Amino acid sequence: MTASTRTTEPAHLATLRVDAVRGLTAAPKTLPPKWLYDESGSNLFEQITRLPEYFQTRIERALLYKVGADIAAITGARSLVELGAGGSSKSRAILDALAATVTTYVPVDVSRSALAQAAPSLAAAYPGVSIRPQVADFTAPLNLEEVGGPRLTMFLGGTLGNLLPAERAEFFASFAAQLAPHDHLLLGVHLVTDPQVIRPAYDDAAGITARFNFGILRRLNRELGADFDVAAFEHVVHWDTANEWIEMRLRSRHTQTVTLRDPGLTIHFAAGEDLRTEVSAKFRPEKLARELRAAGLELSEFWTDRDRLIGLALIAPAPLSPPAA
Ligand code: SAH
Ligand code: AVI
Repeated sequence: MTASTRTTEPAHLATLRVDAVRGLTAAPKTLPPKWLYDESGSNLFEQITRLPEYFQTRIERALLYKVGADIAAITGARSLVELGAGGSSKSRAILDALAATVTTYVPVDVSRSALAQAAPSLAAAYPGVSIRPQVADFTAPLNLEEVGGPRLTMFLGGTLGNLLPAERAEFFASFAAQLAPHDHLLLGVHLVTDPQVIRPAYDDAAGITARFNFGILRRLNRELGADFDVAAFEHVVHWDTANEWIEMRLRSRHTQTVTLRDPGLTIHFAAGEDLRTEVSAKFRPEKLARELRAAGLELSEFWTDRDRLIGLALIAPAPLSPPAA
């Protein structure tokens, strides 16, 4: 394997290696979902957003257009930062709403290809806005010194739910620590609803989500010299009732051994053993508000659609408590 056949950023490759070793030697086996998004994964995710079963994107987009003017009035944002922006397709609702004030848009994503595909049409559609994509992991500190305020950071699409509870708490705490008094966070989350409605969104009839899931094995084959036989795994979707989250898993069809050449690792799968590739947590508004409060953040507005499938939370720093008398 040469550097030119790799699509992982050189800066991210060491993390992929560490995550693969840690996750594949754990019990149960796991991989962090961010590795689903190489060029092919980002394109497959875009296809997922157009599937009849994946209702989330359509509903969130409609809600963003509906409340965009309120968001603009409350935030008066000059800078818009978007975490996990992907193809920025829904971001236009907020860029349009902020037309009178916004001067800078910073889409942040681990997927360089997703950012690169979106950039030319964003630049053409918003000639007065400086578009500054950043290839970065949003769980690490970002380089935003030159991005002035008031700043609105968007974290849409339910991507918060792909973080585990401890990772979420860490994300909120570090976000709260760098939120200036007039800044806001706009969070788009999937709400808890009937699992019979949620499950098909992750197990579509056309098999696009299965291809998206298998892509993580293809990536390990390409980037770490692994020899996963993708056909020896089955795409499995599990609804975890206690945690109220979906899990995407890859289930080994039979006993097998897989070798990763790059870190030099051999792993064994039993027949029927699962590798978890994603959790996608669904939220109740009270639970979200509690998690935010614990990090010193205040839920200032909460909008939802008629069927209460998607929540849009506008978040501000918690007001300082008055000095003790
Ligand atoms: N915001 C878009 C895309 C959601 S898909 C929407 O709502 O449709 C999730 C996006 O987050 C992908 O583009 C993926 O590459 C990115 N992503 C996932 N984990 C990330 C991380 N840790 N840091 C930066 N980007 C990440
Ligand atoms: C990006 N993220 C919120 C999606 C989700 O619904 O958890 C990713 C996805 N996984 C399978 N389908 C879509």
